[in-house]
Amino acid sequence: MSKLSLDRILQSQGFGTRKYCRALIEDGDVVIDGVVQDNFKTTFETDGLVLHVFDEEWLYREHVYIALYKPADYECSRKPSHHPGVLTLLPEQFTWRDVQPVGRLDHDTTGMLLMSDDGPFIHAQSSPKRHVPKVYQATTQDPVTDELVQHLLAGVQLHDEPAPLAALVCEKKGEYQLEIVLEQGKYHQVKRMLAAAGNHCAALHRSAIGKLQLDSLGLKEGEWCYLTPEQLALLAPV
Ligand code: URA
Repeated sequence: MSKLSLDRILQSQGFGTRKYCRALIEDGDVVIDGVVQDNFKTTFETDGLVLHVFDEEWLYREHVYIALYKPADYECSRKPSHHPGVLTLLPEQFTWRDVQPVGRLDHDTTGMLLMSDDGPFIHAQSSPKRHVPKVYQATTQDPVTDELVQHLLAGVQLHDEPAPLAALVCEKKGEYQLEIVLEQGKYHQVKRMLAAAGNHCAALHRSAIGKLQLDSLGLKEGEWCYLTPEQLALLAPV
């Protein structure tokens, strides 16, 4: 439980600088419990606080935990160079709150991307010591053979890796379709593993992280949702 002044509350929720938040309040754009709040010094209990800013409802959140259905042609980097950044798919408040992707997907990869402004959460989820399986659906350029599947399960040597990397699970799903589950999150890992095993990745989609399935979230490409504590619990390591 913590009480904060209204300007600090708005700033913490990503509405802008303290000065801008004070102006919003003094202009009468912030309503709580049906009452216009025009004194930025008024304090409120933040737990469960519901704000209306410009008539839009916002529940106070100390941190945000988001799943985005990343479309192709968006970059996860902080300074995107060739395509728009994934943050452009979220409300502007999230940029102010310093919401960042948890790990990265390539610009042409689609599927589940976690995002948060909780530094320790991002760090823990991205740690190589945390073995959270990531499930990928890969479309291959050449037909999927049993040898390819066996090769990926046995492990392939990538140039800059000290030891071979193996898929945790690898299943043929169609003539050109492969489901690959990886524990690590190395740069371009699926694409490089497929190339090292003699095929080529034509398209890539991340369908699940841990036990959290993208399909269960009911999102369309480009849409996002907050994750509930129950959904976050599905991201636990195996
Ligand atoms: N592996 C890749 O090659 N690309 C991704 O975007 C994710 C995993």
